[in-house]
Amino acid sequence: MVQETRLSVDNLIMPLFVCEGTGVKSPVGSMPGVNRFSVDLLVEECRQLEQLGIRSVLLFGIPDVKGDHVGYDDNGIVQRAVRAIKATIGKLFVITDVCNCEYSEHGHCGIVVSGDVDNDLSLELLSKQALSHANAGSDMIAPSDMMDGRIGVIRKVLDTNGFSNIPVMSYAAKYASAFYGPFRDAADCAPQFGDRKTYQMNPANVREALREVELDISEGADVVMVKPALSYLDVIHQVKQNFNVPVAAYNVSGEYSMIKAAAANGWINENSVMMEMLLSIKRAGADMIITYFAAQAAALLTKGER
Ligand code: PBG
Repeated sequence: MVQETRLSVDNLIMPLFVCEGTGVKSPVGSMPGVNRFSVDLLVEECRQLEQLGIRSVLLFGIPDVKGDHVGYDDNGIVQRAVRAIKATIGKLFVITDVCNCEYSEHGHCGIVVSGDVDNDLSLELLSKQALSHANAGSDMIAPSDMMDGRIGVIRKVLDTNGFSNIPVMSYAAKYASAFYGPFRDAADCAPQFGDRKTYQMNPANVREALREVELDISEGADVVMVKPALSYLDVIHQVKQNFNVPVAAYNVSGEYSMIKAAAANGWINENSVMMEMLLSIKRAGADMIITYFAAQAAALLTKGER
C-alpha cells in the first residue's frame, strides 16, 4: 500500500540486434543472453517477447556491407526487419534506432569529412534514414547520433511525407560513456579513429543535459532520453522535474554485462539486483526503460514479483 514506485512490463522496451542471413542466432560474447538475430528468427523472438507481455522493441541493424548510404536503403536490414515484424505481430510497437555508426566503415555517428564528423552534412543522411524507417512501418524514430539540429530536420521530413503521426524519441542527453563498451561489440560500431566526445556529452555536466533536452523539445522531440541510466539517475531526475514530456532511460550494455558477470561469479543475486536497478531508474523519473533485461524482468513481473 505504501510503495511509491512500481515497475510494470508496460515501462520496458527490449533492444534487439538484427543481422543478415537466415536461421542466425549468434550470441554476443560480451553480453550473455543477448543475440544477434536474422530477420526470420527476430520475428520468432518478438513473438515470444509479446507473449511475455513486452509491448515495445528497439531495433539496431547490423549490415554485412557497410557504407554511409547503407542506413537509408529501403531494402536495408532494419527496414526488412520492421516490415517482417509488423506483418506478423502487428500489435508490437517497433522503435528504430537512427544513427550512422552501425552502418559506416568509420564507426562514427555522422558523416566524416577530413578526419572529423561533419554535423550539418550528417543531418541529411539521418533524415533520409528516418524517412526510410517510417516508410518501412516503424512506429517511432529514435535518433541516437547526437548531431545538433537533427530532431528538427527529422521532424520536418516526417511531417512533409505524411508521417506527422510518427513520434520521435530523442537521445537528448547521451553521454560519452565507457558503459557502451559491450554494445560496440554487439553492433560492430566502435569508432575506427578518435572518440565520440565531440558529439556526445561530458559525464561531468548536468546543466548541459538540460540545455540539450530543451533544444530537442523545441525542435519537436516527443520523448527525451537520458543515457546511460545508472550513473545518471540525477540527470533523469532533473529532466523529469524540468520538462513535461515523457522521459526514457537507456539501461545500457555495460550496466547489463556488469550484473551478468558478477552473477556468473556468484557474487550477487542476479534477479534481485536487476529488479533493484530497474526500480531505481523508474524512481529517478524514467517513464520508460530500454533494457536488455526486459524479457527477464517481464517474466518476474508477471509472476507478481516487484
Ligand atoms: C550508437 C549507439 C550506441 C548505443 C546505442 N546507440 C553506442 C555508442 O554511442 O557508442 C549504446 C547502447 C548500449 O551500450 O547498450 N549511436
